[in-house]
Amino acid sequence: MASLREIFDGLSKARDPSVDWMELVRDLEAPIALRLPPCAFSMRWAEKADLLAIDAMQGFVKEIEALETGLERGDRCLLLERHGAICAFAWVTFRDVRLSLWHTLRLPPGFAYLVYIHVEPEYRRRGVATCLLGCLMLSLRESGCRRLVSGMYGDWESSIRLHVKCGFRICRRYTERRILRFFPYPPKVTELEE
Ligand SMILES: CC(C)(COP(=O)(O)OP(=O)(O)OC[C@H]1O[C@@H](n2cnc3c(N)ncnc32)[C@H](O)[C@@H]1OP(=O)(O)O)[C@@H](O)C(=O)NCCC(=O)NCCS
Repeated sequence: MASLREIFDGLSKARDPSVDWMELVRDLEAPIALRLPPCAFSMRWAEKADLLAIDAMQGFVKEIEALETGLERGDRCLLLERHGAICAFAWVTFRDVRLSLWHTLRLPPGFAYLVYIHVEPEYRRRGVATCLLGCLMLSLRESGCRRLVSGMYGDWESSIRLHVKCGFRICRRYTERRILRFFPYPPKVTELEE
C-alpha cells in the first residue's frame, strides 16, 4: 500500500523550473585566482553607517534593522568604492540561513554563505564582481573558512555564470512543488555531481 508521503508526492506538481533553487559551493582550499579591478577602486569592510546605501542598492529588500543585526552577529560585507561612492558589495554570513518555509541552510563551522553580491549597473561586465568575489574568498580563507556556499534561482543566468567562473560548482537543486497547484509542499532535492 502507498504511504501517505507517496500519495502526497503523487499529488504534488513541480513548478516552473526557472524557480528551482540552485545551491553552489566553492572549495576555498582550492586555488583562488585574483583578478585585478578594471579601474582604481578602494576596498573596505562595511560599517553600520554604510547600511542605508547598501540597502538602497539592493532595492530595500531587507529592513535596515535586519542588516544591522546581521553585522552585529558577525556578518561581513566587502565594499568596492570609487570617488567615495560604493560601486559594489558582497555580503556574507556565517549563521544558518532560512531560505524558505521548508528550507533552512545549516552552516557548520568553517562554512560561510554568500547572501548577496551586487555591482552597480554602470560598472557591470568589466570584471568587478570577479575581482570582489576573489578578494572575499581569499579573506575568508585567511580567517579559516573552508567552504563558501551560495544560492540562486535557476534563471539567474549571469549570477550562475559568475559563480562558475569563480570556481563554484552546482551541488544541489531544490525543485519547488505545490499540491493541487496551491498548497506549498517540501521541495524535491536533487544532489548533483561532486
Ligand atoms: C551578477 C553581477 C554581480 C555580475 O557583476 P559583473 O561585475 O558584471 O560581473 P563580471 O564582469 O565580473 O562577470 C563575470 C562573469 O559573469 C557572467 N556574467 C556577468 N554578467 C552577465 C550578463 N549580463 N550576461 C551573461 N553573463 C554574465 C559572465 O560569465 C562573466 O564572465 P565573462 O565576462 O568572462 O563572460 C551583476 O550583474 C549584478 O549586480 N546583478 C544584479 C544583482 C545580482 O543578480 N546578484 C547576484 C545574485 S546574489
